[in-house]
Amino acid sequence: MEKVTGRGRFATHLGVVLASAGSAVGLGNIWRFPTVVGDNGGAAFILVYLGFVLFLALPVMVCEFLMGRSSRSNTVGAWKKLAPGSPLVAVGYLGVLAGVLILSFYSVIAGWTLDYTYLSLTCRLSGEQNFSEVFSSFVSNPWKPLVFLSLFLLLTHWIVVRGVERGIEKYSKLMMPLLLLIIVVLVVCSANMPGAEEGLTFLLRPDFSKVTRSVVLNAMGQAFFSLSVGIGCLTTYSSYFNRSTRLVSSALSVCMIDTVVAVMSGFIIFPAVFSVQGVSVDAGPGLVFITLPYVFNMTFSAVPVLGYIFSGLFYLLLVLAALTSSISMHEISTAFLADTYHMKRRHAACIVTAVCLVLGIACSLSFGPWKAYTLCGMGVFDWFDYLSAKLCMPIGALFISIFVGWIMPQQEVRDQLTNWGALPVRLYSLFRFLARWVAPLGVAIVFINELFG
Ligand code: PFF
Repeated sequence: MEKVTGRGRFATHLGVVLASAGSAVGLGNIWRFPTVVGDNGGAAFILVYLGFVLFLALPVMVCEFLMGRSSRSNTVGAWKKLAPGSPLVAVGYLGVLAGVLILSFYSVIAGWTLDYTYLSLTCRLSGEQNFSEVFSSFVSNPWKPLVFLSLFLLLTHWIVVRGVERGIEKYSKLMMPLLLLIIVVLVVCSANMPGAEEGLTFLLRPDFSKVTRSVVLNAMGQAFFSLSVGIGCLTTYSSYFNRSTRLVSSALSVCMIDTVVAVMSGFIIFPAVFSVQGVSVDAGPGLVFITLPYVFNMTFSAVPVLGYIFSGLFYLLLVLAALTSSISMHEISTAFLADTYHMKRRHAACIVTAVCLVLGIACSLSFGPWKAYTLCGMGVFDWFDYLSAKLCMPIGALFISIFVGWIMPQQEVRDQLTNWGALPVRLYSLFRFLARWVAPLGVAIVFINELFG
């Protein structure tokens, strides 16, 4: 029998899928995906990425879902309940730490999107400008990005404090469909730009000679980052799922939505990159902020006002997509503090916001005044990204899949997957195989190869 607790719940199935997809779809798809595709050679990287999504990230997502619903707890609480007294509880703490690191650097980029929304809506992204210069002068400004970073974190804080149903679910249902619609329109605009074919070739014709060890590690990190798996974010969300939520089909829907959005972002950015002089595919974190203003300006050159409105709307939706993800990262530590120390959500959320603000400021300054401070060639921002996406997430995913595949009582796994016998058991053996063998071995091999290869 399931215990009735005072924890929040998602009210509808659509709410479950949209909130989880809201966590997955975000800057990772629209900003990070094109950036890493550009840095790692295009089509071949995308194929490797898709393999990781299907065979590693999807099964781990299901594992997280079933750990969360089984324990009805935040990520640390889930490990404590399901593996009491075991060192595996450390994986829960690692998740909380990674969530804070990601939220800190993520809010910096989300702050940039807030600024670009403002610039578009006040007609300041006009066609005569050099958008590379606009971008670099903004990010190296000592205080402007900090203002937008703080604004974004406060927005996230506000939604998280409102709770699960009135906050997270309500806003996700509204924002996600709007975002999908505008992405489709942008794909069409971008495909019609002069020289777009070269971009399409970059995305569609794989060159496997470009697949090196680091490309494979990057693809794995991107798959976990994009689907929000490995750090207990989805464990926390699924602790709010109902008994009737179908875990496998929800995970499949989330993966599909997330992958479609990521690939479509590629189809927005790369045709545009190749049609604009002076922008290269490996422009790094600024790629989206430099190329898209060109797309808007060229597409709407006859009626510039339309361009401003359209780009304003796009960046606004990007802010919203970032918000549905940032609230899920925030929720990891807020739920942890509130559950563990019996704090009010409001107070727990204040602590998380304050810590992320301080760390976020350090990340933001690493693009400007602190640019010279690097370790092994990487600044604070790059370190946070590296530690979370390429270390914490795969390590978390490794232990989560080993735990669910080998250690968790298999009757409980089966009950969760079949909703206590209400759903057919067809996919159970396939899931078990992926969770036991494919996911842990896949992650381990990529790691070992990177470390010792
Ligand atoms: N998946 C999000 C994105 O693609 O933007 C980022 C993210 C959200 C990572 C939540 C980790 C997380 F726990």
